[in-house]
Amino acid sequence: MSGAGALLRKLVPASLFARLSLILLAGLAAAQLLSVSLAIRERDQTTMGAMIDLVEVDVRAAVSLLDRLPAAERPAWMPRLARGAYRFEAGPTQPGPPVQSTLSARLLASTARALEGSYPFSAHAVPGPIERFQVDVRLTDGQTITIDFRPRSGLPLSPWLPYMLAAQLALVALACWLAVRMATRPLRTLAEVADALGPDLRPVEMPEQGPSEVVRAARALNAMQRRIAGYVDERLRILAAISHDLQTPITRMRLRVDLMDDTVQQARFGDDLRQLQDLVREGIGYARTMHGKPEPAQVVDLDNLLDSIVLDYRDAGAAVRMSGSCGGPLPARPKALRRLLVNLIDNALKYGATAHVVLERDGPERCTIRVCDTGPGIPEAMLEAVFEPFYRLEGSRSRDTGGTGLGLAIARQLAGTMAATLTLHNRPEGGLEARLVLTAL
Ligand SMILES: Nc1ncnc2c1ncn2[C@@H]1O[C@H](COP(=O)(O)OP(=O)(O)OP(=O)(O)O)[C@@H](O)[C@H]1O
Ligand SMILES: [Mg+2]
Repeated sequence: MSGAGALLRKLVPASLFARLSLILLAGLAAAQLLSVSLAIRERDQTTMGAMIDLVEVDVRAAVSLLDRLPAAERPAWMPRLARGAYRFEAGPTQPGPPVQSTLSARLLASTARALEGSYPFSAHAVPGPIERFQVDVRLTDGQTITIDFRPRSGLPLSPWLPYMLAAQLALVALACWLAVRMATRPLRTLAEVADALGPDLRPVEMPEQGPSEVVRAARALNAMQRRIAGYVDERLRILAAISHDLQTPITRMRLRVDLMDDTVQQARFGDDLRQLQDLVREGIGYARTMHGKPEPAQVVDLDNLLDSIVLDYRDAGAAVRMSGSCGGPLPARPKALRRLLVNLIDNALKYGATAHVVLERDGPERCTIRVCDTGPGIPEAMLEAVFEPFYRLEGSRSRDTGGTGLGLAIARQLAGTMAATLTLHNRPEGGLEARLVLTAL
């Protein structure tokens, strides 16, 4: 049972377009074939009925005529009295099995009505590949003539019928295709609009046109997108406002800490306040990347950009080196890219002590930037989780690697605005690799 179900699932096409087309086409084609065969049957029955009525009249007239003719003239008249379904011959014939088929029986009954009471007769079927029976009639002068019936059911079909049927089927297929396309296109647009909804959750309007159901669905979707964007905007605005307003009291507290007498406590308070300030600064940054308008794209020489970032780190005494080349400019957003790479290099230095930036051009419009370190890496199960805002691994909660847990969240957010993908990988030789694949904007 389950085997048959699996086979059926395999045979049924995957797309809604193909399924609907198949159902409509099969249904309409079956209905059409049925109505054509019904029409042919009906026509055959009507013509058959008319022919059987005619046989009675014709046979009576022909037999009467042959009966009145001198025996010598009969053979000459017989071919002239022949019809499509029967002809006259000189009799008698060999006896045979009784007439059984429905069509022959109806013809025989009609013939019997024509002959009964006037001429004695007997009938028998002639076995063979085609339906056939013979009626021996004894005329008044004692001679026997035979009526040889070869009944044909229905009229032959016209030769152009298959072509007409094919043309009709083609028309039905075309109509099905058009209807199904019209019905499934809005679904495709819906999927495209949902796909286009970027990480900034800015609404991508679905066109409000077409049949009324589609317009209604498009309106509902657009309204929903606007509502979501509104809620997200509001939350980010609140986050930005709180982060911003916290900066002033923090600065005041730092001034007060500077006036403290207890140097040990002063240092501890100072440390805490610095962390608090970092958190607030990162909070504002995160809200900005989510909320603000993306920076305009421009053609950037990635090698130069990376070179200047690495030099800045070297000047500050950090162990950062660079190798490879992007081999030419690429359209990108330079400020966002710098911020993203700084976050990655900061991590490499913080958790791995050294950073190695590797550039590689891997397509006409594609460049991969890897930031590698030799630190402990990240457990495989956590490689995605660390992109969550404020998510930090247990081990990195120590004071010296203190951070807010927003660096990677911001980096991924920025990558989203640049049509780039950012992933983390543990290197086989140890350490973490942050891989940024940039494609032209
Ligand atoms: N190169 C790395 N090696 C090992 N662990 C890392 C690395 N980069 C990030 N992590 C882990 O991922 C967590 C999240 O990183 P993320 O950069 O988002 O925050 P953070 O560095 O803790 O704080 P900040 O907001 O200051 O960057 C880190 O706390 C750390 O545990
Ligand atoms: Mg970080």
